Amino acid sequence: MPKAAHAPRIAFSRPPASPRGVLIVLCDDELKFGSAATAMLKPVRALVAKTAKTEGFKGKKGKALELLAPAGLAVERLTIVGVGKAKELELKDWLKLGGTVMGKIPGPARAVSVFLDLPGPATKPEAAAEFALGLKLRAYRFDRYRTKRKEDEEKAPAGANVALAVADPAAAEKAWKARERVGEGVLIARDLVNEPPNVLYPVEFARRAAELKKLGVAVDVLDVPALKKLGMRALLAVGQGSAHESRVVVMRWNGGKKGEAPVAVIGKGVCFDSGGISIKPAASMEEMKGDMAGAACVVGLMHTLAARKARANVVGAIGLTENMPSGTAQRPSDIVKSMSGQTIEILNTDAEGRLVLADVLWYVKERFKPKWMIDLATLTGAILVSLGQEYAGLFANDDKLAKRLIEAGQATGERVWRMPLGPEFDKMIDSKFADMKNIGGRYGGSITAAQFLQRFVDKTPWAHLDIAGTGMAAQPSDINQSWAPGWGVRLLDRLIGEHYE
Ligand code: BES
Ligand code: MN
Ligand code: ZN
Repeated sequence: MPKAAHAPRIAFSRPPASPRGVLIVLCDDELKFGSAATAMLKPVRALVAKTAKTEGFKGKKGKALELLAPAGLAVERLTIVGVGKAKELELKDWLKLGGTVMGKIPGPARAVSVFLDLPGPATKPEAAAEFALGLKLRAYRFDRYRTKRKEDEEKAPAGANVALAVADPAAAEKAWKARERVGEGVLIARDLVNEPPNVLYPVEFARRAAELKKLGVAVDVLDVPALKKLGMRALLAVGQGSAHESRVVVMRWNGGKKGEAPVAVIGKGVCFDSGGISIKPAASMEEMKGDMAGAACVVGLMHTLAARKARANVVGAIGLTENMPSGTAQRPSDIVKSMSGQTIEILNTDAEGRLVLADVLWYVKERFKPKWMIDLATLTGAILVSLGQEYAGLFANDDKLAKRLIEAGQATGERVWRMPLGPEFDKMIDSKFADMKNIGGRYGGSITAAQFLQRFVDKTPWAHLDIAGTGMAAQPSDINQSWAPGWGVRLLDRLIGEHYE
């Protein structure tokens, strides 16, 4: 996979006595520095105090104070970044802080030193690694299709060497080696979601997923004849109107005990969702290139797990299609038979994600008998109405799995909010002509979509994450400036790392 541009080079070092270039230090909300920074800043102590006062800088979380070429230090620029209450910093705050700091590094900067110490106990290696991850995620740009640089992008520090000063650089470096893999996975997911659909159609997506073989992941790409043979008629029906063939990709990482049942992660990979014959309005249709964010997350996650040699058996499976209107497209009123044998009446061809997932969920359950399955899908606009872009919708038939996902969400900042399931909702998708229809009524659209999926998981512990709000069209944040956030890689890496390794 092509490397993301603008990658800063990150290394850990002991605090330099007289840094050069761009210097960044952290302070708490009493304007106190860690001991190394305090000693190093001695020559500018009065100047810093005075400037802070003039600027009204109080060390609040995320706020910064800049001093250009301060007399007494050999640096071009000194930036002091507030962290608020130092004692209260959790890992997810260190991540954000890394992002904030990256955002303060000016474009032309080459040599950058960041002092990571704060008043109180030494900064932990895990915190330093999380900070570095924040730097890496914030520096990402998706600009491979620009032939001219935009002005703001010129300002992004493309070639900076960032030295992170900590008391124990070796320990921080070690922690960072593992976290860096997570960063790679997130950036792979972002790249896939940001790519335009004329480039990233199912066959090309499958080719990129197959690059995971280099890391020791077993990758099977199922083509149309193979999918027909398996009976994945629901998934194939979605792609039948497109000039691009559908694919299913199955990725297996066996880093756990031999013979132990795997866990499985399944992604919706609709490379472009025009709505099909039930075509979408023109406004914002371009966003539907991101309708494969679930699949992108699965590929990014598999990369991370393999690259960090996770001690777990994990199956990743993605359903790749393009939903287009044409003479061969499926129609409202068509009835298709899914791989499970259950029949589906298509009433709206724009409710296509659930058709894709129905067959992939069933296939994974039958073939791998996983301990649990989690699917990620940009499934419904309704989840944006419910939860905005802050939380993904979580639907689950298993309380333990739901709880673990909620906890992993709180720890990583990729938060999920549990939504209900139940027989009252399930009956809303009963059909007059087939076993079920692919849409519910006017209300509870995210729930009826989840009910539909549940009909294809049987008794397998399962969770569905509706990421229509969190997985694409991201607002710029401390840790992401691009359209695609790469949502879910950190969440699921954490879940697996905490409970299944
Ligand atoms: N991919 C869309 C859902 C979506 C909407 C994702 C906005 C991201 C942002 C999905 O395939 C879809 O079209 N869902 C329909 C379902 C409806 C026809 C029952 C929707 O949400 O309107
Ligand atoms: Mn749709
Ligand atoms: Zn869709």
